[in-house]
Amino acid sequence: MRMIQSGNTIMQWEHNLGMTKLRVLENRGMSIFLNHCGVSRMLPAAAEAASTQIRLQAEKGSLMFQDWVEPLNHFKTQGATLLGTTPDNVSYVRNTSEGLSLLASGYPLQPGDEILSYVHEYPANHYPWKIQEGRGARLVLIQNRSHGELCGGSLAGPGGFRFEDIESKVTDRTRIVALSHVQFTSGFAFELKRVGDFCKARNIDLIVDCAQSLGALEIIPEQMNIAALAASGWKWLMGPVGTGLMYTAPGFRERIKIVFAGADLMVQGMDYLNHTWNPHTDARKFEYSTHDFVGTAALAASMKSANEFGIKRIQEVGRKLRDLFLSRLDQSKYSPLIFAAENQSGIISLVPGGALQADEVGRKLAAQGIVVAPRAGFVRIAPHYTNSEADIVVASDALNAI
Ligand SMILES: Cc1ncc(COP(=O)(O)O)c(C=O)c1O
Repeated sequence: MRMIQSGNTIMQWEHNLGMTKLRVLENRGMSIFLNHCGVSRMLPAAAEAASTQIRLQAEKGSLMFQDWVEPLNHFKTQGATLLGTTPDNVSYVRNTSEGLSLLASGYPLQPGDEILSYVHEYPANHYPWKIQEGRGARLVLIQNRSHGELCGGSLAGPGGFRFEDIESKVTDRTRIVALSHVQFTSGFAFELKRVGDFCKARNIDLIVDCAQSLGALEIIPEQMNIAALAASGWKWLMGPVGTGLMYTAPGFRERIKIVFAGADLMVQGMDYLNHTWNPHTDARKFEYSTHDFVGTAALAASMKSANEFGIKRIQEVGRKLRDLFLSRLDQSKYSPLIFAAENQSGIISLVPGGALQADEVGRKLAAQGIVVAPRAGFVRIAPHYTNSEADIVVASDALNAI
């Protein structure tokens, strides 16, 4: 019978009475990583690419540039492949907040213009819009619908919203709809294309925080009528902290005022004493100065791995691991937030029953080498294409045994 190893756990498939099960044979202290919605383990290819760049500078300083292949180009090519676009629409940003702040502060807002968002957004997609109130714009928030309200049952807390909630809040002053593709608390995903089409028909720009989806779910902005999106590199993309990626559609980008400027903004490049105002008009418009070439090299490598595996396949693996997890979870102990198929994502949020607290569950699993993410009262399980079925078996058994 075939043996399977997950972390330091040895298991074996068992066939009995027509059922196939994994049985744990030996457990020598596990290391199962299910926190891709927090900070992921960097892919080895990404760590390798980063250390190559670090070594180059350590050994050569400015001489490194002699035979250098700019990692940013590789980054843009891989980012474009992932998003089904061209590299000139992809910018490097340090994090989601930087990308969204550049867009929010550069957007041609007039007093009275409205930005529509959701009440429980992660700060990266709240404050950049909130500060536009200083320019006389209004941040309008869609109220929360709990999982219970959306799907029946009694689960309270941050959930999501309905398409009709967006429809009913849009006015003739709405300029922007700014939402996270996947809510960081509940794992609720909104329907990108449906909302994108709705926005396009009303001349509204849909701007999406894709930190909790890019690398896990297929996102094709040009088919989905997304004006712009930003994402962090260290979650589902499995790159380093301090890297992110932004997509802007050309017509949208043209309307955004430059708010950050520096040496890399201008077409004249290293002709530094030539101060002619001639900024790049492609996605370099937002890459104002010296970028993190160590980080871009690493994130390029991790996106290459994702592209080689294929985003559709990644999504499929995620779905299978999720189904396996839910089929094994003791649902008399934990209530999972199961949304309608079109609202599901890579995050499975659970509410522990009785007196059990999410933080305590997180600590108990960590003591067994299983990394999950407690947040806002939920235990978030976030498997990815680097996980095996065996990881899910061990993690669900450990959860059930708490
Ligand atoms: C929805 C969402 N957006 C953004 C981020 C991260 O933002 P930043 O890249 O600015 O740190 C997170 C992190 O948890 C998130 O869940």
